[in-house]
Amino acid sequence: MALRTLVTRKSLGNLGLGFRQLRGLQTYSLPDLPYDYGALEPAISGEIMQLHHQKHHQAYVTNYNKALEQLDAATAKGDSHTVAKLLSALKFNGGGHINHSIFWKNLAPVKEGGGEPPHGSLGWAIDNHFGSMEVLVQKMNTEGAALQGSGWVWLGVDKELKTLVVQTTENQDPLVSKGANLVPLLGIDVWEHAYYLQYKNVRPDYLKNIWKVINWKFAGEVYAKECP
Ligand SMILES: [Fe+2]
Repeated sequence: MALRTLVTRKSLGNLGLGFRQLRGLQTYSLPDLPYDYGALEPAISGEIMQLHHQKHHQAYVTNYNKALEQLDAATAKGDSHTVAKLLSALKFNGGGHINHSIFWKNLAPVKEGGGEPPHGSLGWAIDNHFGSMEVLVQKMNTEGAALQGSGWVWLGVDKELKTLVVQTTENQDPLVSKGANLVPLLGIDVWEHAYYLQYKNVRPDYLKNIWKVINWKFAGEVYAKECP
């Protein structure tokens, strides 16, 4: 618990992407984790969770805010060269903030229901679409393990077609970059920083164990909202 108090508590805005106004410009802040750093052990170590949240996610937030402030200044001056130069930093750091804000909610300690299979409409949809939960897990593990370099593997829903999708994205690209109608239900971070301290180079072992702390309740709530 003491470790968590090191994190500055700030109010959370919509979608948990805490934001604040700075001289009229909207900037973002690091959202609190909804559990202690060590609460996901043994599946994910407290050391990984603390570094991942306090260092990696914080860096995306810091650099996103910096790029937004530079964009604001460049736009005010009509400096289109600088605006163009900032786009990749905005995509990378903005995506990093969006993705990690979802990721923390996708996890839960076992004693709070982590790893408990989804009930209700999402459970039915998974069975209908993939055949079974085991098939879905196998598919996400295979695609997550095969992703070259850094990125994410997602279970999402197409909010127009009302169908489930499994998709991977590279680097910090958010799921919406693969389709404007795609809404993330569950994203698994397969960057080395998410597992290396505990699993070394064996990404498949990390993928195998993370299901023990997946928060299906959150995914089910998002699904029910998109597919009422
Ligand atoms: Fe990460």
